[in-house]
Amino acid sequence: MKKLMLALALTSVATFAADTTITATMQLMEKGMEQVQKGFMYNSKQDIMQGIETLQNSDAIFKKVDVTTFIPNNKKVRVTQNITDNLGEDLVILKKAIENNEFTTATEKYGKVLNDCVACHTTIRGW
Ligand code: HEC
Repeated sequence: MKKLMLALALTSVATFAADTTITATMQLMEKGMEQVQKGFMYNSKQDIMQGIETLQNSDAIFKKVDVTTFIPNNKKVRVTQNITDNLGEDLVILKKAIENNEFTTATEKYGKVLNDCVACHTTIRGW
């Protein structure tokens, strides 16, 4: 958990208790998704790019941290690790689509990113 705290500190997210660290990371993820969606609605490439950056910064926390520390069911760690890897890849693909002004493709990729969020939550929460 110490490592997670450090990672979060580096991304300048205020953290106080172990319990709130994952929440802080996730709220950053949520913010990133909102920024990207807003960018689509307002035709703002800048907003989309900012949102992707927010998402990549929060995803980077997953890469640095042992996910077993915040995922209660240890048997599912492998699954969630794969989802995290997919999330990283899908963000790169989404960014490329935006760079190439391929907005229809980009909205599909945004859907994939959203699916990565939901996939992990479903696994964790037994939804
Ligand atoms: C590798 C797993 C994983 C991925 C991927 C993931 N999350 Fe989460 N998320 C969690 C965990 C663990 C929690 C905390 C436990 C819970 O709420 O069930 C959580 C909780 C949340 C919460 C609730 C936070 C709160 O205030 O209680 C939000 C919002 C959230 N995630 C958004 C996102 C978004 C948006 C994405 C995709 C961009 C995402 N998450 C991707 C694991 C993940």
